[in-house]
Amino acid sequence: MNTVIFKVKNNSLEKEDLDNICEIIKSSGVVAFPTETVYGLGANALDVEAVKGIFKAKGRPSDNPLIVHISNLEMLDELVEEVGDAAKKLMDAFWPGPITFILKKKKEVSETVTAGLQTIAIRFPSDKIARDIIEYCGKPIAAPSANLSGKPSPTNGEHVIRDLTGRVEAIVVGEDAVIGLESTVVDLTGKYPMILRPGGISKEELEKVIGQVQIDKALNSEYSEDNKPKSPGMKYTHYAPKAEARLATGTREEQVIKIKELLNDLRSSGHSVGVLTVDENVEKYACDNIISLGSINNMDEIASNLFKALREFDDTSVEYILCESFENVGIGLAIMNRLKKACGYRIF
Ligand code: TXA
Ligand code: MG
Repeated sequence: MNTVIFKVKNNSLEKEDLDNICEIIKSSGVVAFPTETVYGLGANALDVEAVKGIFKAKGRPSDNPLIVHISNLEMLDELVEEVGDAAKKLMDAFWPGPITFILKKKKEVSETVTAGLQTIAIRFPSDKIARDIIEYCGKPIAAPSANLSGKPSPTNGEHVIRDLTGRVEAIVVGEDAVIGLESTVVDLTGKYPMILRPGGISKEELEKVIGQVQIDKALNSEYSEDNKPKSPGMKYTHYAPKAEARLATGTREEQVIKIKELLNDLRSSGHSVGVLTVDENVEKYACDNIISLGSINNMDEIASNLFKALREFDDTSVEYILCESFENVGIGLAIMNRLKKACGYRIF
């Protein structure tokens, strides 16, 4: 398949480009585009053939439901049964933005989108290009992250081009994703709101608006038959770099000591080792490859660099990656969730 690349200039798409993109969407094609969280891989959510095209392009298991993206609240009418008070408050506070709500789906929405579930994930992104595309096409757009299944989500156009050239009709290349981690997924179909995937909007921010919010307990440890996350996608060992990644715990000083020790052991038995650290610690390690995520005092920066860093290690020949960890507060919860998965829950 020939993949057309559309380049965003001055944070906008030419009318001719928008026309072409919508033509592809209307003829059941698949188009990757930027959002504020990560790049998405979109198709008309109301067109079953188009939605099947997304699963095929990504190599995504069909039991993993998609998020449907909207560009105005009227679009909700044809997708969800009802928007309760809690949902209204949260939409008011956080949309457009990096948060996805799980609501009861309208029966007209195909179960191909929701992977057989009677609930549907909806997000109203804030990114201008994403909104322009959805609004111009006038269709809700189903879009998972635009990576090949199993790889870290793409935070820039180059990542998408690498993963999906030849597999999708078009790729819209814009700015790097500002947030760099996928949206927070909040289930609003139970008694209490529950975070199924931590992301750009933190538990603390949610609680300011709606009071107590739960977190799916299954997220704390590895997937097993007895520990199934409520969000089907959270069971997959996502984000795994090629090298074996391990996550250090303890105070930052303790982490540095532990990493140095393991680094010594591994290198003295002939292995090539990378370290994923912060600006404050880059000078402290003698390793084969070092990547800093940014300053420990800027957790947003750390979040936005994480997936890029994991992909960069894949371009090196390191066999192990030793990672520092972060506090489980604010966006730190989402960073740690992704890091634990990237490390296959190998924590030391
Ligand atoms: O930031 C994001 O959310 C990005 C951008 C493109 O919007 N999208 C994204 O989509 O991360 P994806 O498909 O990679 O992740 C969607 C997650 C999966 O874990 C999936 O299982 C979950 O949302 N999900 C979707 N529908 C659901 C539902 N009805 N109930 C529970 N979880 C659901
Ligand atoms: Mg994904």
